[in-house]
Amino acid sequence: MTKSLSFLAVLLLFIIVACNSDNFRDEEYVEIPDFNFPKSTKFKVNLSDYKIFEGLPADLLPSKDFHLLELSSTLFTDYSHKQRLVKLPVGTKMKKLNDGSIEFPNGTILTKTFFYYNDDRDHSLGKQIIETRLEIKENDIWNVATYIWNKQQTNALLETNGLETRISWVSENGTKRSTNYQVPTENQCMTCHQSKTKIAPIGPTLRNLNRIVNRNNSNLNQIEHLQSVGILSEFDVSQIDKIVDYKNPEASLMERSRAYLDMNCAHCHNPEGWEVSAQRRFDFRYETSLEQTGILRKKEKVVNTMMRGKMPFIGTTMLDEEGIELLKEFTESL
Ligand code: HEC
Ligand code: HEC
Repeated sequence: MTKSLSFLAVLLLFIIVACNSDNFRDEEYVEIPDFNFPKSTKFKVNLSDYKIFEGLPADLLPSKDFHLLELSSTLFTDYSHKQRLVKLPVGTKMKKLNDGSIEFPNGTILTKTFFYYNDDRDHSLGKQIIETRLEIKENDIWNVATYIWNKQQTNALLETNGLETRISWVSENGTKRSTNYQVPTENQCMTCHQSKTKIAPIGPTLRNLNRIVNRNNSNLNQIEHLQSVGILSEFDVSQIDKIVDYKNPEASLMERSRAYLDMNCAHCHNPEGWEVSAQRRFDFRYETSLEQTGILRKKEKVVNTMMRGKMPFIGTTMLDEEGIELLKEFTESL
């Protein structure tokens, strides 16, 4: 008898707690499913086997087959710095498709290396490299994997189960910061990188690459540079639009905010993304009209969920203070 009474009491308590919780508590139970996207390559155990860097690996000097890709707007990941590279099979090119997207040939390797400078004010004080993420296209299928760097920073090893690691650094304004940096699991890669039933690259779109970069001590347009080194098909750059750097205060509030939402939220919140987020009826892609983004209906909610650390759903453990400030100003202006 007492047993069933206490069972009832527990049940009652559970119901009270459940009813009291706001929406977010329920939403917290959204689980990432096992996506199981098809694979077409077996990743090597050692990152060094891909010969991405030459000289001392810790210098992150790309070997001659790997080309730098610099994006105007980037994803916030707990204030880490990132290096992005591409390697194409000899004799092949990235192709501009009619819809303005890029088609990569089979055999393409895209890399992204995450690191922190010990002191953001003085890069000569060294850095801590954490992981190098790879995307490899074989048989028209993109495969994803990450490699975790060793303490000596001489090599990195394949890791599919994710990892948490404590990182400390000094920020640009001289304050000491730290985070429990999270290396994603394979399934988490797929959460952000899916488009319909496939894995796809996100950052290298023509408009995000259409910017001035410095190569061999001269400033040039990155698209024209990629064409001149023979790895991007020929077309007139003036046809291509540009996405702004959302950190650039010279750009308009509208353009900066749309660029922020595109690079930090749209990989989930778009009609072809992971269905649980796509069903929230946000479409944060840059090309979507403001009315269609869904932001006008939920202005406060967008900023609130970020301030409470609930969005982005995965990929960060720290608040992006500057990003939140930007979207706050933006939503208040609408
Ligand atoms: C929180 C979402 C998220 C997760 C999780 C994630 N990525 Fe990405 N990834 C992005 C976004 C957004 C970009 C493009 C923006 C940028 O690079 O700043 C990107 C870029 C990349 C790139 C550079 C080429 C490209 O697609 O732009 C590689 C390589 C990559 N990711 C691999 C991985 C791998 C491997 C994993 C899992 C270990 C992973 N990513 C997990 C969101 C994510
Ligand atoms: C890794 C995928 C992912 C990313 C990246 C992401 N979201 Fe979400 N978002 C979700 C999922 C899944 C839900 C529903 C589950 C939940 O609310 O916990 C959601 C829900 C929301 C909601 C609540 C909507 C409602 O109707 O209740 C808002 C607001 C939101 N996201 C805004 C954002 C913003 C702003 C960003 C970028 C800073 C972002 N999200 C990035 C996956 C994502």
